[in-house]
Amino acid sequence: MARMVYISGRMLLEPDARISIFDSAVMLADTVTESTRTFRHKPFKLEAHIERLYQSLKLVRIDPGMSADKMLRTTLDVFEANLDNYGPGDDCWIVHNISRGLSIAGADPTVQVGAATVMIFTQFMDLKPWARFYTEGCHGVTPVSRAVPSQSLDPRIKNRSRLAYTLAEMEAKQVDPLAQSVILDIDGHVSENKGGNIFCVTKGVLRTPSTVNCLAGISRATALELAKKLGIPTEETVLQPYDLATADEMFFTSTPYCIMPSTRFNNHPVGDGTVGPITKRLLDAWSDLVGLDIAAQAKAQIN
Ligand SMILES: Cc1ncc(COP(=O)(O)O)c(C=O)c1O
Repeated sequence: MARMVYISGRMLLEPDARISIFDSAVMLADTVTESTRTFRHKPFKLEAHIERLYQSLKLVRIDPGMSADKMLRTTLDVFEANLDNYGPGDDCWIVHNISRGLSIAGADPTVQVGAATVMIFTQFMDLKPWARFYTEGCHGVTPVSRAVPSQSLDPRIKNRSRLAYTLAEMEAKQVDPLAQSVILDIDGHVSENKGGNIFCVTKGVLRTPSTVNCLAGISRATALELAKKLGIPTEETVLQPYDLATADEMFFTSTPYCIMPSTRFNNHPVGDGTVGPITKRLLDAWSDLVGLDIAAQAKAQIN
């Protein structure tokens, strides 16, 4: 079945959905975004994603032209219109991109001159890139480029201006093609990955940077909630590369993979160099929460 996408008030077949080359998404990357995933064809924490979307919109002063409730209902309509595209073992992304709409050259770019461009689509959840890391763990590498300082752009605004993240990830991958970036802020503190948050476990305490220098990830919140349920102490704090290098365990969190264990940091083993017990407990608890073996689903895609 052809994919149906939503664009500014209309549900269209994907090839018929077009935006102007003068859209502020193209001209300025002036776009906020959300990415939700499904588990067993059920959207996970969609309300929390819509809430974060509206916080981002408010901060960048884009009026999407519809209430959060309407956005939620429209999103579910897009998802349901595409359900037949996903097999029983598959899941999908549900993505929102909302730009300020047409950008008139020479005019004040801060002014929204017309309707926002609201784009919603679903996409097959391709888990192949992460599948092997559930067992072997990934390699976290600190790139040379630092995070955009929160004094310049608050990292809690989830936006599509991705050049800084892309370059940082590229630098990490020049060290090791399978590396995942551990981006530091300008003070040298651990901030986040280009698309995920960073955790470590030290002497039984689960630690992660506070949202002063990273996105308030919904997976990050889920990991902290699960830790609380399991009685694992947590700490939102300042982390230095030293803390990751000396940690017993390390992992990343993000919507597609949930928890991605990391067993090497800047080419040193993390702990004993294997996926740690707290990481495993959290991943199991997450699988229980969503009624699906998260690692098995990813591994099934590479077999
Ligand atoms: C920069 C950045 N940090 C963290 C995350 C993780 O956020 P979430 O858990 O809500 O997917 C993302 C997700 O895309 C991101 O882009």
